[in-house]
Amino acid sequence: LKFLCYSNDGVDEHMIWLIGLKNIFARQLPNMPKEYIVRLVMDRTHKSMMVIRNNIVVGGITYRPYASQRFGEIAFCAITADEQVKGYGTRLMNHLKQHARDADGLTHFLTYADNNAVGYFVKQGFTKEITLDKERWQGYIKDYDGGILMECKIDQKLPYVDLAT
Ligand code: ACO
Repeated sequence: LKFLCYSNDGVDEHMIWLIGLKNIFARQLPNMPKEYIVRLVMDRTHKSMMVIRNNIVVGGITYRPYASQRFGEIAFCAITADEQVKGYGTRLMNHLKQHARDADGLTHFLTYADNNAVGYFVKQGFTKEITLDKERWQGYIKDYDGGILMECKIDQKLPYVDLAT
């Protein structure tokens, strides 16, 4: 099992995984227009942290890091249907937090969570209370009325994943 983060960098293997992830999002997020999913997953300003098993993508999180503002916006998050509720979603988020902090220099995540995914995000440390200064995020993230805005503060010291194993 691997947790890998890539953008649309033209590397064949990464493109195959990103297309697989796009297909998982299209199935798991039926309210999202498919063209919109493809556009963001393939947009070079977005990155995707993916769970890869036997060289096949089983889920992932696509996000946009705003380096100057030090926060990231999570656009899509899903695990393929037959692999849900096995802990992959939690491990994925922990890998994302560690990568976002150590590689992107981020301190927070913001996301518009679907109503039925609020429970998952709460378990990952997200709150409906937004503590991040509005000047840091207003005008950066797209308003989206199908969900509820949630925030997660990334601990700056915590080892979210054990890189030795
Ligand atoms: N509502 C409430 N709790 C949930 C949900 C949910 N929809 N999904 C998982 N949980 C809980 C689990 O019960 C578990 O709790 P526990 O630790 O007490 O056992 C915990 O959250 C973590 O579960 P995982 O097994 O790690 O979660 P999973 O691998 O299933 O991934 C995910 C969660 C991504 C929400 C997955 O179920 C999924 O793809 N769902 C469909 C798509 C979706 O709703 N995506 C989010 C949309 S919002 C957005 O993309 C910004």
